[in-house]
Amino acid sequence: MRTWLTERFGLTVPVVGAPMAGASGGALTAAISSAGGLGMLGVGSAVSADWIRKQGAVAAESGKPYGVGLMAWALAERPEHLDVVLQLRPALVSVSFGDYTPYVEPLQAAGVVVATQAGTVADAREAAAAGVDVIVARGAEAGGHGRNAVGTLPLLQAILDAVDLPVLAAGGISSARGLAAVLAAGAAGGWIGTAFLTCVEAMTAGPARRRLIEADETATVYGTVFDAASRAGWPDEFGGRALRNAFFDDWEGREASLKSDDAAHERFTAAVRAADVTTSSLYAGQGVGALDREPTAAEVLAHFASADTYLRAAANNLTT
Ligand SMILES: Cc1cc2nc3c(=O)[nH]c(=O)nc-3n(C[C@H](O)[C@H](O)[C@H](O)COP(=O)(O)O)c2cc1C
Repeated sequence: MRTWLTERFGLTVPVVGAPMAGASGGALTAAISSAGGLGMLGVGSAVSADWIRKQGAVAAESGKPYGVGLMAWALAERPEHLDVVLQLRPALVSVSFGDYTPYVEPLQAAGVVVATQAGTVADAREAAAAGVDVIVARGAEAGGHGRNAVGTLPLLQAILDAVDLPVLAAGGISSARGLAAVLAAGAAGGWIGTAFLTCVEAMTAGPARRRLIEADETATVYGTVFDAASRAGWPDEFGGRALRNAFFDDWEGREASLKSDDAAHERFTAAVRAADVTTSSLYAGQGVGALDREPTAAEVLAHFASADTYLRAAANNLTT
């Protein structure tokens, strides 16, 4: 399977291991890149510049290209995140969620390919106008933060028609069947997060792994409850998709009062530290239903590589 993505980065599988703060550190990033995909380090808003430097060194150990995912809203307060990434010079950097436009030119000047995640056609047109190299069409079923406006399939089709840039598809690609579908539609590859969450190389804590494996495709919910509790600084415009739990149910619809509730904030942050999944946020997309074990990243990539069998089967069905 050859696409813009595989040719640009020398990959054998058209898959980007999406940046996932708290899950994709250097080890998972390196494992994905070693296995023929493009691994990406997920940089959370609260990590130190030193964390990025150290995890970037681990990611680079594969000797293969890797990427880094930054959050635009956090960079304004933490310019050191950009400085370290410019020193590391990964092959690909995504800057998403907020005003990323000031960062496109400095990254490209350092030889980095720049991506951003778009949740609407308007987002994609803005990204093209801002000069990014590749657009990620990120649908509402995706795990983690972003928009909840449009599902992956209608979004991907509309963005492919609207812009003249390579487009990667994100949100709900949980198996080789889904990867084949987006490739057939014209995507240059899949930008896949949830499918890697229970990999042995991921940073995901033990109790979270068990919860993810138990969860079915109906277990996720979208909203801003966890951001109101964490006070991390996420703009309200970008909620997150996570596993529904008792804390979310308690506070859904009362996010405004949660923002100023100190006791709830303390309870939430203690639960995060203790990896208590009844209260803390566990971000995952609707593809979570497909997680049934703790594979290596190489096993996940080998499965995605079998997308070609579905594409061939579909092609065989064509009559001329
Ligand atoms: C646990 C988790 C953490 C995430 N963290 C980030 C992040 O730090 N930066 C980012 O740009 N996107 C982040 N995302 C979004 C992913 O990059 C990607 O859009 C998403 O995982 C794709 O959908 P899927 O989970 O259905 O495969 C995160 C997603 C998850 C599941």
